[in-house]
Amino acid sequence: MHLYSTHSHTLTTTFLHAVMQGLADDGGLWMPAALPRLLPSFFEELPRMSMADMAVQVMQAYIGDEIPTKDLEPLVRAAFNFDAPLVRVSDNIYSLELFHGPTLAFKDFGARFMARAMSYARNVQGVQADSRGDLCVLVATSGDTGSAVAHGFWNVPGIRVVILYPQGKVSDVQEKQLTTMGGNITALEVQGTFDDCQALVKTAFQDASLAEKVALTSANSINIARLLPQSLYYFRAVAQLPAEACQNVVFCTPSGNFGNLTGGLFAQRLGLSVKKFLAATNRNDTFVQYLASGTYNAKPSVETPSNAMDVGNPSNFARIEALYGGSLEAMRKDIAATKISDEETLATVARVEKEHGYLMCPHTAVGYLATERFLQTPEMAGATGVVLATAHPAKFGTVIEPALGKPVSLPERLQDYVRKEKHATLLPNNYELLKAFLLKTQS
Ligand SMILES: Cc1ncc(COP(=O)(O)O)c(C=O)c1O
Repeated sequence: MHLYSTHSHTLTTTFLHAVMQGLADDGGLWMPAALPRLLPSFFEELPRMSMADMAVQVMQAYIGDEIPTKDLEPLVRAAFNFDAPLVRVSDNIYSLELFHGPTLAFKDFGARFMARAMSYARNVQGVQADSRGDLCVLVATSGDTGSAVAHGFWNVPGIRVVILYPQGKVSDVQEKQLTTMGGNITALEVQGTFDDCQALVKTAFQDASLAEKVALTSANSINIARLLPQSLYYFRAVAQLPAEACQNVVFCTPSGNFGNLTGGLFAQRLGLSVKKFLAATNRNDTFVQYLASGTYNAKPSVETPSNAMDVGNPSNFARIEALYGGSLEAMRKDIAATKISDEETLATVARVEKEHGYLMCPHTAVGYLATERFLQTPEMAGATGVVLATAHPAKFGTVIEPALGKPVSLPERLQDYVRKEKHATLLPNNYELLKAFLLKTQS
């Protein structure tokens, strides 16, 4: 697989290098140089394929012979060992539930694949001989990303994960998800804020004397290995739709950094039939404004009930722009965008639960309302909407309970975490102590 940097088409690399590197040297994001079209036989077979069978074929099409099938197939099957069920919510709107992985959010898809791809890349690049020992993934988290990354890397050979989280500033469930895994995952409870955690991690990455002894890496969300799996679930949705709906599908992505939308656009280039993509945002509407005016104005983020989408300068915008060669007109043919207010978001959670008995997280609710409105426009007559349900509603109980007027029960998988005992090392907000910890625990 060949990739180029969004900052310069002449800077190119391979998949395995891009996985280890994250960002290109010039600060650009890695983009596939070509997106191969899947054969008609793939689409004929699609309704009969399992998630894992489909994922093997799509990932193979992307990566090509850079990872031989005998290695890629078990890697992909281990990463995507859970499904994305499609649930009919109303007459013409379906919810694609992306929260059936270990941390109950769509990030499990990307994180589980990236972990295995990194482990593979490290082995083939001969870094086993690295005298520094295991690769150490260092992450600062305000809650969700840390647990998806930690679960993704859990038990992956040759890699350990050190998570820094701010003491008292993550929810109880999130803390248990971060601190009960054991094995190759270590949690550091930092006596500081999330910004302090990020600053500690940043200092560690800049410390040359630490790099001599510890092979550090980040598990950044812009890594191409996290992005490619985000195209898989679009195929899985179409596989589950009634045949008559398949040629007339609107996919709605509740958007923050626009990774999911980018994944969908990749799926379309691979040959998936999509009538329109609808990017739904909360008040952080930089992309909505861009599509309307043609001017991209990054803004500071504002806080909303769909907080994982509070992004004023979406990182994947550069990839979307590159995909359309900067043509706004071409982009508008494929993509529409809508902004939803905070009040509308919470009211939608309550209304859809009442009318259809379907409970959504606030992010999914942004997408649902946007889809309802969009499907009412004359050009969309007869279309079927599929909303990406990006997280389990119980993860956002404190946000949606006041709107619902009743408690949201925790699913069994989250209750299991809560019952487990927390294991975290207390870390004062002091870089030298973090460094000493990393050196002491390096194997
Ligand atoms: C629950 C949830 N929904 C939606 C999003 C937005 O997804 P994207 O960044 O791919 O636009 C995120 C991002 O973190 C998320 O966690």
